[in-house]
Amino acid sequence: MVPAGETSRKQHWDGVYREKPLETVGWYQPVPAISLELISQLGLSQSAPLIDVGGGDSYLADHLLRKGFTDITVLDISGTSLKRAQARLGSQAERIHWVASDILDFEPQRPYALWHDRAAFHFLTDPAQARAYLDRARRGIRPGGYFIVGTFSENGPSTCSGLPVQRYSISALQDTASPGFELLRGFNTVHKTPSGGVQEYTFGVFVHRG
Ligand SMILES: C[S@@+](CC[C@H](N)C(=O)[O-])C[C@H]1O[C@@H](n2cnc3c(N)ncnc32)[C@H](O)[C@@H]1O
Repeated sequence: MVPAGETSRKQHWDGVYREKPLETVGWYQPVPAISLELISQLGLSQSAPLIDVGGGDSYLADHLLRKGFTDITVLDISGTSLKRAQARLGSQAERIHWVASDILDFEPQRPYALWHDRAAFHFLTDPAQARAYLDRARRGIRPGGYFIVGTFSENGPSTCSGLPVQRYSISALQDTASPGFELLRGFNTVHKTPSGGVQEYTFGVFVHRG
C-alpha cells in the first residue's frame, strides 16, 4: 500500500507539472550554470554514471548529454515532469535512464560517480526522511564519488511551490550529511526567478568517504 504522504507528494508535483510551463516555475534556469561548473570541476570521465535526483524537466540532462556524458539517470517523483523532459528531448531521450519514483522508495542498483540534487532534498523537512534520503545516497554513491546538493539557504524562502522546505546554512548541510560525506566546497548563491524574485541557495559538494 502506498503511504498517504507519498501519494500526496506525487499528486502535488504531477499537478505542478501539468499546470505550469517550465519557463514559469521559480526554479527554472535555461542553463544550470552552477551545477555544470561544479560537475566540470570534478573531472569525471564521460562514461561515469551520473544521477540527477528530483531532476524533473530541468535542462541539466540536456547539457550533460551535449557535454558527452553517456550514463545519465534522471529520477523524479513526478512522471509528468519526466514525460515533459522526454518530449522536449525527442529521440535524445533514449540516451537517458528515466526513473519515476519518490527518492525515499528508490533502491540504487549500482553505485553512481555523481549524485546531483538541486532543490529536491530540501523538501524533506522531517529529519527522519532527510536521514533516509542520505542513507540512500550513501548506498548509491560509490566510495570516492560525489554528492552535489543545492538547497535554499538560511536566508532563502521557507517554502517552494507551496510546500515547506528545510533551509540549510553551509555548516548545517555539512552536519546533516555527515558521517560519510566530506565537504569539499560549500557556498551561497542567488538564483533569479522568472518573475524577478531572488532566492538564496546553499550548495555543497561532498565526496563519499565510504
Ligand atoms: C524545485 S523542483 C527542482 C527541479 C530541478 N532539480 C531543477 O533544479 O530545476 C523540485 C523537484 O523535486 C521533485 N521531488 C520533490 N520531492 C521528491 C521526492 N521525494 N522524490 C523525488 N523527487 C522529488 C519534484 O517533482 C521536482 O521536480
